[in-house]
Amino acid sequence: MRDSRPTLLLVDDETTNLQVLRHTLQDEYRLLFAKDGRKALDIVHADRPDLILLDIMMPGLSGYEVCKALKRNECVASIPVIFVTALAEASSEQQGLEIGAVDYITKPFNPHIVRARVRTHLSLVQVEEVRATRLKIVRCLGAAVEFRDNETGFHVIRMSHYARTLALTAGYSESAAEELLHAAPMHDVGKIGIPDMILQKPGKLTDDEYRVMQQHTVIGARIIGNHPSGLLRMAAVIALNHHEKWNGSGYPQGLAGEDIPHVARVVALADVFDALVSVRPYKAAWSVDEAVTLIRDESGKHFDPELVRAFLDCMPDILLIRERWADPENGGCTGGTRSSHA
Ligand code: C2E
Ligand code: SIN
Ligand code: SIN
Ligand code: FE
Ligand code: FE
Repeated sequence: MRDSRPTLLLVDDETTNLQVLRHTLQDEYRLLFAKDGRKALDIVHADRPDLILLDIMMPGLSGYEVCKALKRNECVASIPVIFVTALAEASSEQQGLEIGAVDYITKPFNPHIVRARVRTHLSLVQVEEVRATRLKIVRCLGAAVEFRDNETGFHVIRMSHYARTLALTAGYSESAAEELLHAAPMHDVGKIGIPDMILQKPGKLTDDEYRVMQQHTVIGARIIGNHPSGLLRMAAVIALNHHEKWNGSGYPQGLAGEDIPHVARVVALADVFDALVSVRPYKAAWSVDEAVTLIRDESGKHFDPELVRAFLDCMPDILLIRERWADPENGGCTGGTRSSHA
């Protein structure tokens, strides 16, 4: 069975150095060894290690050359490289960092320092992986809903970019707006729990059907779950509250005004704008002018008046996003008859 511990590749032309590193690291990691640069590159491609400790001064390919070769290759460029240098070479550390190494360790080795540096860089890699995985999951969930909802897949992209732009105009920091961009695609994830008969009904919903439909907010928040902080917490707040209205007439809780979480007010505007100007199984697309007229009209009723002002201010950017992520001709995969539900 393959060892599940992180794998380190240790590269040094001196056997004694490799032995010292082996003793220092073998209890915590699976180890691979190379005595020259050529061999190191072969091993990296055959058995992608999680981190590389790379001696600089070696006959044949130097550590620098090995590092440059790794950074040129997209498949392995993200593997962190720590250079191993003798004290006398300290001036060359800067050069090592410039060509993409994350750190350096000086010889002779201090076992505590070696272990600490390796641990630090491996945990940074894990943080990055978790971040990337989280983003993928978020997009998958958004895409899953759209698939059921007969939309083209561009709705979540457009509305999340509208939400980001609107948030920036309303004074969010870049990073807060970015988090909103990534949380917004999950706003309708609860539609997974709504029967097709209702979700894809070509005409207007009955009152009973609409009551079932409204449950997508509560279901969505439950699917995303309870998280103390971060992206998923924001996503759950948005899923639950994106149909609340400023005047208290929304659902599921009938919250009003500032009691509605701000991110949910932003998403409400972005979502409705895109729903209005798009084709749905139950409605034809409105013109941008008609949609803007409704949004102005609903200032202080459905929508936060300050956000309506911000939305009108950033209209040129909104229209650019709409163009950039336009649905393919013929409305993509919107099936069924379109009713004249007005
Ligand atoms: P959705 O299609 O993503 O629409 C999101 C929101 O955009 C709606 O929330 C509503 O606030 C606004 N909106 C969409 N189309 C119109 C429209 O023609 N006129 C006006 N004034 N506003 C519109 P709402 O109403 O809470 O609906 C939530 C979801 O319920 C909708 O998401 C859609 O999936 C479904 N839905 C709503 N009405 C109908 C319907 O008559 N037939 C069917 N089959 N589904 C409906
Ligand atoms: C996101 O970035 O998480 C959603 C919007 C997009 O896919 O561009
Ligand atoms: C409804 O009132 O049935 C849903 C809202 C809409 O379709 O505009
Ligand atoms: Fe919704
Ligand atoms: Fe939506």
